Amino acid sequence: MYSEKVMDHFNNPRNVGEIEDASGVGTVGNAKCGDIMRIYLDIDEDQIIRDCKFKTFGCGAAVATSSMATELVKGKTIQEAMQVTNKAVMEALDGLPPVKVHCSLLAEEAIHAALWDYAEKKHITIEGLEKPKSDIHEGEEAVEEEY
Ligand code: FES
Repeated sequence: MYSEKVMDHFNNPRNVGEIEDASGVGTVGNAKCGDIMRIYLDIDEDQIIRDCKFKTFGCGAAVATSSMATELVKGKTIQEAMQVTNKAVMEALDGLPPVKVHCSLLAEEAIHAALWDYAEKKHITIEGLEKPKSDIHEGEEAVEEEY
């Protein structure tokens, strides 16, 4: 049911963890399955994504897509990172079963939410970037005490 690449990224996820003082952090969730994904971006002054890490409390496909998404945005400019859609992530993973497509959407949304956070902090506008719909950052702050 899963491609070899999905299994590989699920079993050996890349870039797991968090970035201290990240340039942008995005946390999104899917209300239906309850899975949560958080992406950290380290962006330099040339707007290049130097590092990217993730934490996913979710299904195997969500872990695999977040792992692949972090690989895809690393080293890219923020405009290039905007092109890392859920479709691009799925293609890079050689596909996902139809019932798991929403998991890859979470990865795209998490990247966008992290970019949005960065743009807000820097007071800049990123072309084509819309306010994330499911950024659950605020809701989570009540649960976690790290802020
Ligand atoms: Fe919800 Fe995969 S089942 S993210």
